[in-house]
Amino acid sequence: MLHAPWNPADALTVQGRYGSPYTDQDPHRDALRQSPLHPDCTVAGSEGFGRVVELLQATNDIDDEDHSNSLQVGDWVTVGKPGLGTMRSTMWVPTDTLVRVERGEELWDRAGPQASALFQLGGTAIRMLRDFVSLQPGEIVLQNAGNSAVGYMVSQLAHLRLGASVVSLARKGSKTTSQWNELVEHLTTNGNCSLVVAEEDLQDRRALAAFQAQLKQLGNGTCPRLALNTVGGNSASLLLSSLTQGGTMVTYGGMSLQPVTISTAHLIFKDLKLHGYWHSRWMVQHSYKERHDMVNELVDALLDNSLTCPPVQVFPLSNVRQAMDWESTQQSHLAIRRKIVWDCQEM
Ligand SMILES: NC(=O)c1ccc[n+]([C@@H]2O[C@H](COP(=O)([O-])OP(=O)(O)OC[C@H]3O[C@@H](n4cnc5c(N)ncnc54)[C@H](OP(=O)(O)O)[C@@H]3O)[C@@H](O)[C@H]2O)c1
Repeated sequence: MLHAPWNPADALTVQGRYGSPYTDQDPHRDALRQSPLHPDCTVAGSEGFGRVVELLQATNDIDDEDHSNSLQVGDWVTVGKPGLGTMRSTMWVPTDTLVRVERGEELWDRAGPQASALFQLGGTAIRMLRDFVSLQPGEIVLQNAGNSAVGYMVSQLAHLRLGASVVSLARKGSKTTSQWNELVEHLTTNGNCSLVVAEEDLQDRRALAAFQAQLKQLGNGTCPRLALNTVGGNSASLLLSSLTQGGTMVTYGGMSLQPVTISTAHLIFKDLKLHGYWHSRWMVQHSYKERHDMVNELVDALLDNSLTCPPVQVFPLSNVRQAMDWESTQQSHLAIRRKIVWDCQEM
């Protein structure tokens, strides 16, 4: 591996609080459970960008029909199945757990360490925008945690690929006014959001009603049909109350650790629909071709259409403690979040 990002799911996995998408019958389940280097311990990390340096067999086992996608030494690759344990400089894994990144060299030159955060975060964004509601150009998608890495990809990809506009909620928290303004500028200019609103500003009924009127206006008279929730609790309730009749909310994370609650009236009279999305499951259940197409769609978008990856803060793998200290003491003082990325070659 060259670089691997540190995602919230990695922290939960290390704490033993994250699920596994593998069934008992899945051949990858046991193969990926342990590191060949340290058979008694698993390795953290579920996303990354690297190169093939050695192959143990001439024809390898990627599950495409004509083997046209078989890996070669020198290929640029990312993760195609969850649970590989990417926080290491070298991994021996079955070839069909990787996905070849076409134009990898160009991607590396353009994005460097940021490239490692493109695939799963961007893939999550693409799937949620495509698989639940058939969005039309000009439609509005509403999301919370708009300043998260996934949120940043959602707003850009909705605009680039579907012509839809994204309205993002984010926490003002302890940000100063100038930091908040900097964040709003970043999310609207680089992230292509149509509107960024502080959750704290929607806490009374009149403010919420004014926001919902604004949403309707932005959507040419229609409130959003799709909301993406990764926070839960009150934040999810704000999304639900802003959806149109028959609208859909997709939950893909629970950062507040609060449950999603929905009123009976919203279910019966408003006919709202709730779904969950888990990219790990998507990767396990879809073919190599589908994973390869999506990975390379993201690369093309980045190289051709000015999709940008979230900002990153790079740490060598030997500095895990320093990185965790930085996350807990410095991150909340930044106007714009940075995702931790491990430099897997610098030990
Ligand atoms: N289901 C899937 O397949 C899938 C795939 C990828 C990611 N995810 C999930 O998506 C979420 C975002 O991931 P990411 O990598 O984009 O994260 P990230 O860049 O680290 O951003 C974390 C986001 O969560 C917010 N947050 C943190 N603690 C919070 C709290 N207590 N209450 C409300 N908001 C809080 C942060 O807001 P502040 O900046 O204000 O702290 C920030 O917007 C995570 O929950 C992750 O597990 C799910």
